[in-house]
Amino acid sequence: MLVDQYQRKISYLRLSVTDRCDFRCQYCMSEDIEFMPKQQMLTIEEMTRLSQIFINLGITKIRLTGGEPLVRRGIDDLIGSLGKNKKLKELTLTTNGSQLDKKYSILKKSGIKRINVSLDSLNAKHFKAITRGGDLNQVLSNLELIKNNIQVKLNVVLMKNVNDHEINDLLNYAIERHFNITFIEQMPLGDIGFDRYNSFIDSDKTKELIESNFSLIKIPLSTGGPADYWKIKNTDTAVGFISPHTHNFCEACNRIRVSADGHLHLCLGQENKINLIDPLRASQSDHEVEKVILEAMLVKPKSHDFDLQSKTQIIRFMSHTGG
Ligand code: 5AD
Ligand code: SF4
Repeated sequence: MLVDQYQRKISYLRLSVTDRCDFRCQYCMSEDIEFMPKQQMLTIEEMTRLSQIFINLGITKIRLTGGEPLVRRGIDDLIGSLGKNKKLKELTLTTNGSQLDKKYSILKKSGIKRINVSLDSLNAKHFKAITRGGDLNQVLSNLELIKNNIQVKLNVVLMKNVNDHEINDLLNYAIERHFNITFIEQMPLGDIGFDRYNSFIDSDKTKELIESNFSLIKIPLSTGGPADYWKIKNTDTAVGFISPHTHNFCEACNRIRVSADGHLHLCLGQENKINLIDPLRASQSDHEVEKVILEAMLVKPKSHDFDLQSKTQIIRFMSHTGG
C-alpha cells in the first residue's frame, strides 16, 4: 500500500501514454508545441511493466491519459494487458473522442466501462477553433456509437466569450444521452499564449449560470476524484465541478501521475518529479523501481498552489503530465 507523509492512501495512477494529440486545444497547448523526443518516452512494454509494479504496490485504478491516449502506437496492447489484470479494479481513459470508432472493440473487449471525453462546444465552427482543427461531427458520432456500452462523462472547460454561451446546450446534450458532465476550471499549465486570465470562469460562477435554468441537488457521489457533484433535478445527469482555484481538494488526494517520459509527478500543480525511466531501464528486477516509488511518497506535496496571474508558473503542459 502506498501512503504519503500526510497519511493519504495512494490508489489511483494516471498514466500519460503520449504527449501528442491530434487536437491543439487553445487552453492546453500552444499551436507550435514541441513534443518530447520519441526515444525519451516509455515504450509500451515499459508502460506495461511499470503499471504492474504500481499494481503490486497497491494501485487499484489506472486512468490512461495524454495528450490523446488513443493516438499512441501500441495502445491496444497496453489496454489489452491492463484489461486482463485481475488486481486492477478499474481501467479507464480520458480522451478527446476523435478515435473512439477505431478503438471501440479493444475498449469493449478490455472491460472499460467508463470514459471521460472532452467536449467544449456543440458548434462545429467553435469546436474547430477551440481545438484548432478538431471535427465535432466525428466526436459526436463516436459518442453515439459507444454510449450504450460505455458510460460517458463529458469534460468541459468553460471560458468567457469562447463557449460560456453554450452552457445550456451542453447540459441538454448530456441530459438527453444520460451522460454526466464535469466543468473544469482552467489551470495555468504551460505558457500557451492564450489569455487564461480574462477567459477564466470559476466553478461558483458556472454553477450560478446552470442554476438559472436547472435545479441542482447535492449528491455525495465519489469517484475517487476531486469533483464536487450535483444531480440535475428529474434527470439521470450529474454535474461535477473541479475547482483547483476556489476549493482546495488536495486533502483527499489519492492520485499520482506518470508522464509519457517516465517521470512520477506527485502533484499536477507542483514541479517536483521523480525519474522512473532510468531505474526501469537500468534494472532487471522490479525491486529497485519499487524502492524509488516508495521513497517518492515521502515528498508528495501537501497541496498545489495555482496562480492564474503568473503566466509561466508551471512550465509543463497538461498534455505532458496527463489531465
Ligand atoms: N486547464 C484545465 N483543464 C485542462 N484540460 C487540458 N488542459 C487544461 C487546463 N490547462 C482538460 C481537457 C481534458 C481534461 C483532462 O483536462 O479538456 O478534458
Ligand atoms: Fe489534446 Fe486534450 Fe490537450 Fe485538447 S485538451 S489538445 S484534446 S490533450
